[in-house]
Amino acid sequence: MKKIKAIGVLTSGGDAPGMNAAIRAVVRTAITNGIRVYGIKRGYNGLYHGDMFEMNLRSVSDIINRGGTILYTARSKEFNSPEGVLKAKEQCEKAGLDAIVCIGGDGTFRGALDLSRVGVPCVGIPGTIDNDIGCSEYTIGYDTAMNTAMEMIDKIRDTAQSHDRCSVIEVMGRRAGYIAVNTGIACGASAICIPEHPFSLEKDFLEKVRANQKTGKRHFIVLVAEGVGGVQQMAEEIEAKTGIETRATILGHVQRGGAPSLRDRVVASQMGYHAVKLLLDGKGGRIVAMQSEKIIDLDIEEALATKKTLDPALIDMNDEISI
Ligand code: F6P
Repeated sequence: MKKIKAIGVLTSGGDAPGMNAAIRAVVRTAITNGIRVYGIKRGYNGLYHGDMFEMNLRSVSDIINRGGTILYTARSKEFNSPEGVLKAKEQCEKAGLDAIVCIGGDGTFRGALDLSRVGVPCVGIPGTIDNDIGCSEYTIGYDTAMNTAMEMIDKIRDTAQSHDRCSVIEVMGRRAGYIAVNTGIACGASAICIPEHPFSLEKDFLEKVRANQKTGKRHFIVLVAEGVGGVQQMAEEIEAKTGIETRATILGHVQRGGAPSLRDRVVASQMGYHAVKLLLDGKGGRIVAMQSEKIIDLDIEEALATKKTLDPALIDMNDEISI
């Protein structure tokens, strides 16, 4: 890889708390090491249209504590074609960008791979509340989103308890149940329903309700991952079969906002720093990841091919203690 003089940084896909802390680390590490940095707006969409601006040390002041992304984000259709990728490459040449740091999820990494293949070295940083990146134990935004969900579910529990009700709550996670499993455990959910694990309403919840009622339990929480969905229907079925008044709540995008937690700020800073150091060492086509609590990096193709599995023992444990 040729010596880097200028890099771009972008955020793409769903935003996640901590993305700003990662942008800050990228900008400051680059400038400290004599590299110019351009903020690319709205992910690959902005790259395709050449919508970028030069950043300085003060461009990232007072953002470490802010949710969302100051660079905005998008899911670009125009970039998603061989012509789109070549147009993005031309924009990099025009602006003098030698490499790009791409913060986001799987889709972002596929874009980074496409660009790396046409000669624009990219480094990806995992940023998504879903924690569904195979190669990394942790993704920026996950901790904050879970804590936000936990606070909201605690509030729902108060009212469910007062009314002797059952609450069926949907948390985010289109393809993955990480948020549902952990917030379910943290909030004492009677049942957790995720895409990765079979769920029978009768066996995994209704039987438990009948048994728990005998020991005096009068309110219940069921946590459902977005990828399973159907909370309203499930609530109606529970009410019809148990006679317990049941309400459905979809927490939705509240989980994606808010000030990042300490963990997200620290991991984002580490990952942003690591990404720029890789480029300084002449290494592109990499994804920064966390493995065994350490910040490491992998080849993008290898990273995209890596799958991770949710530990079903967590659900078994929850079944035994949430009674
Ligand atoms: O990828 C993060 C995520 O929040 C998913 O959990 C959710 O399914 C999706 O993004 C929602 O995307 P959008 O904001 O485009 O509706």
